[in-house]
Amino acid sequence: MPDATTTTTTPAQSLHHGLTAEEVRALTEKSLDARGRAYCPYSSFRVGCALLLHPSSSNPQTPPTTTPTIIQGANVENAAYPVGTCAERVAVGTAVVQAGLRRGGVKAVGVATDIQGFASPCGMCRQFLREFLDLDTPIFMHNRDGEYEVRSLGELLPMSFGPDTLPPAREMERMRGEGGKA
Ligand code: THU
Repeated sequence: MPDATTTTTTPAQSLHHGLTAEEVRALTEKSLDARGRAYCPYSSFRVGCALLLHPSSSNPQTPPTTTPTIIQGANVENAAYPVGTCAERVAVGTAVVQAGLRRGGVKAVGVATDIQGFASPCGMCRQFLREFLDLDTPIFMHNRDGEYEVRSLGELLPMSFGPDTLPPAREMERMRGEGGKA
């Protein structure tokens, strides 16, 4: 019989932002590993990203498995500076092509940099992630030491414009026909 000081830990209670300890460990490890793959000769600012994907329901091309599927990305810079791409968008593009990522298919995002603070995804990447993440999806932002802070996408991108904002094209045409003057 447990006494008053005994706590019973159920699997649900041990979840951290909806992730098991093992998933958090894997996300951290892969985020830091991805950071090591950055191509950033111009800024020297390495960014790694790891996407923890839900099992196959949202990702039809991902075989059912109990081990978490994690897709990595890193920033890829270019001599023509604006052409360079952020780690987050590299990871999402890779996940779409390699794992069949579709909307709602991401369970968590990890990012990692070399700074002491906790760098968050840039505005363009927040919007890019918005296409595929639910607003409550956690984003683990790692600093140089592998410590992290967590925010949901909805916290990082309030009042956002997403795929659900757009009415179907036919409906939009009808609405334009009704109300449009020009
Ligand atoms: N960078 C990312 O990869 N992700 C972000 O969200 C912010 C910035 C990269 C772009 C560039 O290669 C370097 O960091 C410095 O801006």
